[in-house]
Amino acid sequence: MIDTASLAPAFDAVSAAFPGARPAWGMVLGSGWSEAAAGFEALGEISFADIPRFGAAGVAGHAGRLLWGRRAGVEAFIFRGRRHVYEGVGFEPVIMPVYLAKRFGAKAMFLTNAAGGVRKEWNAGDLMAITDHINLMGVNPLVGPHDPFWGARFPDQSAVWSPRLRKLLAEAAEAAGVALREGVYLAGTGPTYETPAEVRAFRAMGADAVGMSTVPEAILANAAGLEVVGVTCITNMASGILDQPLTHEEVTETTAKSMEKMRALVLAFADRFAAAPTP
Ligand code: HPA
Repeated sequence: MIDTASLAPAFDAVSAAFPGARPAWGMVLGSGWSEAAAGFEALGEISFADIPRFGAAGVAGHAGRLLWGRRAGVEAFIFRGRRHVYEGVGFEPVIMPVYLAKRFGAKAMFLTNAAGGVRKEWNAGDLMAITDHINLMGVNPLVGPHDPFWGARFPDQSAVWSPRLRKLLAEAAEAAGVALREGVYLAGTGPTYETPAEVRAFRAMGADAVGMSTVPEAILANAAGLEVVGVTCITNMASGILDQPLTHEEVTETTAKSMEKMRALVLAFADRFAAAPTP
C-alpha cells in the first residue's frame, strides 16, 4: 500500500531544510504530546505541510511540525503530531516519520499516543509502556508489492517492542519519579470510539489500552530494523467503564494535566538513550 519511491521528495525536502542531519532516533508525539519534547535543543524545524506527501496534521492536540533536535549530544527527529489511518489519506502520511527516520539513518523509533484505559483498575492520566500490540485496524501497511526498504516479506512480530529500550524507559521513569505501567496496546481504525461490548471483547483478548494509531508505525519501524519503544497516556477510561460519553476534549485535558510527567519521562529516556543509542 506504500509506494516508497514516491516518498523520496519528502526526503529531499527535509535534507534541504536540515543540512547535515544525522538523527539517531525518531520520535512521534501523538495526541496531546506535542509539548513533551521541550528540553531538546532545536537545530531546525519544518512544518509537516512543507514535506511532500506528509501534509498538515488536522487533529486538535497535534502541532504538525517536525523538530530537528539534540539532547545529550545526540540528534533526534521529533514529529510533533501524527497523521492517522482514520483521516483516509492512505498510509504514506501515516508512516512518513518512520520513512524519514530510516532514510536519515536513525536506529530507533519512540512512539507516543493517547488511548482509552481498558483495565478497570487503572486511571485517566496513567502512563503505560507498550509491551506489545494487537492490530485490529483490519489493514497492514506492508500489504502490497514487497519493497526491501522495509525488510523481509514476512516480518517476525515476536519482539516488535524492544525489551532493551523498554528497560531504558523503566529506568528513566524511576529516575524521573514517574509511575509507569506496562501493557498491550490495541489499535482500531477509529474515528469512532469503541462500544462497551467492543471494550469488553478487547479486555478478554488481552488489551490494556485501546487507541487509533501507532501500530502501523511500529510494524514498519520494526520491519525496517529499527528498535521500537512506546508510551501511552491513558487519557480516559474506555467506553462503558464509567457512565459518561467519551470526548476528544477529555483526551486533550488529560494530556495537558499529565504534561509535566510526560515531559520528564521523555527527557530522562533521551538522556539514557544518548548513552546507549544502539544495542
Ligand atoms: N478509544 C480510542 N482511542 C482513544 C481513546 C479511546 O477511549 N482515548 C484516546 N484515544
